[in-house]
Amino acid sequence: MWDFAGRDTAIDMGSSTVRMHLKDRGVVCREPSLLARCRRTGRILALGVPAQKMAGRNPDVTLVRPVREGAPTETDAAEYMMRALVRRHHRRHYTARPRLVVTVPSGLTPVHYRALRFSAYQAGARRLTLLPTPIAAAIGMGMTSALRSDVTVIANIGAEVTDVGVIAFGGLVTSHTALIGGSALDRAIVDLVRREYRVALSRSAAEAAKLEVGAVPPLGRRPVRQTEVNGRDIATGMPRSLVLTTVDVGRAIAGPVADIVDAIGAGVVGCSPEISGDLLSVGVTLTGGCARLPGLERLIHDRTGLPARLGDDTGDAAVLGAAEVLRSTRSQEPPARDTSQNPQLMTTLPDLEY
Ligand SMILES: Nc1ncnc2c1ncn2[C@@H]1O[C@H](COP(=O)(O)OP(=O)(O)OP(=O)(O)O)[C@@H](O)[C@H]1O
Ligand SMILES: [Mg+2]
Repeated sequence: MWDFAGRDTAIDMGSSTVRMHLKDRGVVCREPSLLARCRRTGRILALGVPAQKMAGRNPDVTLVRPVREGAPTETDAAEYMMRALVRRHHRRHYTARPRLVVTVPSGLTPVHYRALRFSAYQAGARRLTLLPTPIAAAIGMGMTSALRSDVTVIANIGAEVTDVGVIAFGGLVTSHTALIGGSALDRAIVDLVRREYRVALSRSAAEAAKLEVGAVPPLGRRPVRQTEVNGRDIATGMPRSLVLTTVDVGRAIAGPVADIVDAIGAGVVGCSPEISGDLLSVGVTLTGGCARLPGLERLIHDRTGLPARLGDDTGDAAVLGAAEVLRSTRSQEPPARDTSQNPQLMTTLPDLEY
């Protein structure tokens, strides 16, 4: 007998990281969502970390990012990535036709919805469920189920998308998707260094500086730290290193950080007075990589009046939630020859069986 359950697969196709969870094996992959494509032949040469290493170093290679702004914009590349990961991690790879749950931004456009459906079925999905990220993250953290009536607010701050969802009675009450996230912070650091130090910095160097010393101003009692970054002097073209401090990085990222906080505010307006009243006590739970930026919770509280707390410091909440949905909907298996290829968009929670 085929072990269908063994092929249940949850995927969080992030703009910067793709995560995959397999039943019984846990999170098997956290790879940069990047492909390296040969300029001459068009062949894909590498995926994930090896592709990242080729970035800007191998002149024969162009880097392809299959997922932008949380959605598969390069359909062929997204399909390749899904298929490659499914084959790599499923042991019986030639016959693997998994039941897939894929997390998506809650504001997924119809065009991206069709692109994702196409990519997933081409990559071999037997059945596809799309799960909005705020719901996935809430389930992943064990904060919600169809049976619970309390309100949960999730703000998932990723690399390119901030996705805010208000969840009550097992469904998404309101949601807001803003195209802002950690990558905008990296770009702002690159801009500041170019403007003030006349040095061209790579995005990855800017991101490393953000992770090393980044914090949201005002710093309060937070220590001022410093880090050395290497780039290219714009005037001479020669390599140059310089020191960036927490203050420099804080100054650079203040603008995009304010946009993230605005997006969170926009995500909770429009709730009914009953739910709005609850929000002051339940606050906002932050997930996604950029939520780990020190000082962000305090700024959200100061600007929106809502208490904020970091709910997930691994970044895995969404993919774990998607895996939980697979586990709990196992009994609703469609007929073996279900070829309808109509994905299910789940905006209300399944009755999770704990
Ligand atoms: N400790 C940290 N402090 C600040 N930013 C961080 C930290 N760790 C990760 N990040 C940032 O979080 C972002 C990646 O987060 P995440 O993995 O949630 O994104 P993603 O799911 O790939 O993207 P998206 O959900 O927007 O499509 C990157 O911009 C990264 O620099
Ligand atoms: Mg994400």
